[in-house]
Amino acid sequence: MGDVLDTTDLLLRQQEYYDGRAADWQRWITRYMRPVEGEISKLLSELPLDGHVLDMACGTGYWTAQLASRASTVTALDGSKPMLEQIAHRGLSNVNTVHADLFNWNPPTEWDAVFFAHWLAHVPEDRFDRFWSAVDGALAPRGHVIIIDVAPEEQRIEEHIHERESIPLTRRRLRDGRQYDVVKKYWEPEELIERIRPLGFEGAGTKIGAEDGFGFVVWDVVRSSDDQS
Ligand SMILES: C[S@@+](CC[C@H](N)C(=O)[O-])C[C@H]1O[C@@H](n2cnc3c(N)ncnc32)[C@H](O)[C@@H]1O
Repeated sequence: MGDVLDTTDLLLRQQEYYDGRAADWQRWITRYMRPVEGEISKLLSELPLDGHVLDMACGTGYWTAQLASRASTVTALDGSKPMLEQIAHRGLSNVNTVHADLFNWNPPTEWDAVFFAHWLAHVPEDRFDRFWSAVDGALAPRGHVIIIDVAPEEQRIEEHIHERESIPLTRRRLRDGRQYDVVKKYWEPEELIERIRPLGFEGAGTKIGAEDGFGFVVWDVVRSSDDQS
């Protein structure tokens, strides 16, 4: 993929930005997803999200709570303590929280399903294969990886999209004025499948809300080597 910037500092700043968003994130994500929440919930209800589920980069638990209503247990992992504190306050009896940096995380066990929403866009190219290796390690045999993220239509909400040394970035500002460049890669459904095929995964993405100008995608991904029969 050519020479790319070492993203260590960028990713620390990205986490700092989300620490600063913890107080208003639940309100923001609830409003952002509202136009498509019915469609996405219906799709999720048809996907295998039972048993033990890992919610990576769970934030304040917008999705964790939905997952917990179906799964036996949900492990909600995030790099932000202020985000995780909000999940703890929800009192979901079958949810446990884990504070970890996903760029330096080795799965201690396997889950029947691995879920991540609005996270993959923040994984830069130089961390991409290592991240998927962690996903592979976290996934039980015949498990499913369910992903929700944004396709290019969602660039509509950004103020300043740019690139630095091939890394796609978007500029974000906290209420106190601090400014951050956050990695933001908008995957088209099939583009992501092509990207993860050499890493041993296959699947499909369904675009949601495109007819109304939105660009959300739900992917259902499995290991290519798993017998799905
Ligand atoms: C866009 S939010 C998504 C939150 C949640 N999945 C949702 O859809 O509401 C991204 C999340 O990634 C977390 N995060 C950022 N960098 C991380 C890292 N290196 N390891 C683990 N989590 C990280 C942030 O704290 C934040 O909660």
